[in-house]
Amino acid sequence: MSTPADTRGHAYDDIQEFDNRLPNWWLWTFYGACIFSVFYWIHFHSLGTGDLPGEAYVVEQRIAADRIAAQLANNPVTEEMLLKLAKEPAFVEEGRKIFADPGKCALCHRADGGAAEVGGVPAIGPNLTDDHWIYGSKPMDIYTTIAKGRTPDPVRKTMGGMQSWEMYGPQFVMRATAYVLSIKNSNSVGGKKPETYAIKEQ
Ligand code: HEC
Repeated sequence: MSTPADTRGHAYDDIQEFDNRLPNWWLWTFYGACIFSVFYWIHFHSLGTGDLPGEAYVVEQRIAADRIAAQLANNPVTEEMLLKLAKEPAFVEEGRKIFADPGKCALCHRADGGAAEVGGVPAIGPNLTDDHWIYGSKPMDIYTTIAKGRTPDPVRKTMGGMQSWEMYGPQFVMRATAYVLSIKNSNSVGGKKPETYAIKEQ
């Protein structure tokens, strides 16, 4: 079978392939993409002057959390406000970071709040993901626990040992509270058993 000069020279089931020139519009989008990729690479990967999507998302979240914080700065802390904050993903995420810091809450409550053990050693703090609470799980109860800390109660014979975090400011305490509210009743796997003096909540 003869093959015309402008075909690729192969035929399958009598089907031949033309060797047409690529259209200019196609070639220009291709060259354009090549040139673009050089600038893209330099901007994002060599110089690091741009945020990749993951980093840009984190920055946006931080800005959103700061905006919420600024709106609240002049308002007194209330039950409704804390509940609302616990439903704001950007704000809860800020609280999660505070909590998971190995030198802060995670030291005694484990990064996920389930306590049990931290680095192979039995955790000091109680499980914050179950339905048993020592000092109450209402938003203001949790806020007060974190802001003021809890010392041993001789009547209820509680152990105490939860320090005050007020010195980090109300924003810190609000963020940590929002996170604790968000993990309440999440029943972390391998979580610690409730303290004998903890009260089961409905
Ligand atoms: C040095 C260890 C330690 C650190 C650090 C710590 N906690 Fe605690 N926390 C405790 C202990 C111990 C208790 C329980 C006190 C008791 O049994 O009387 C407690 C109790 C609590 C409770 C009350 C639980 C309940 O059942 O009522 C909350 C909420 C809490 N911590 C949140 C936090 C947050 C948020 C942080 C970080 C900002 C934090 N804790 C850091 C040791 C710690």
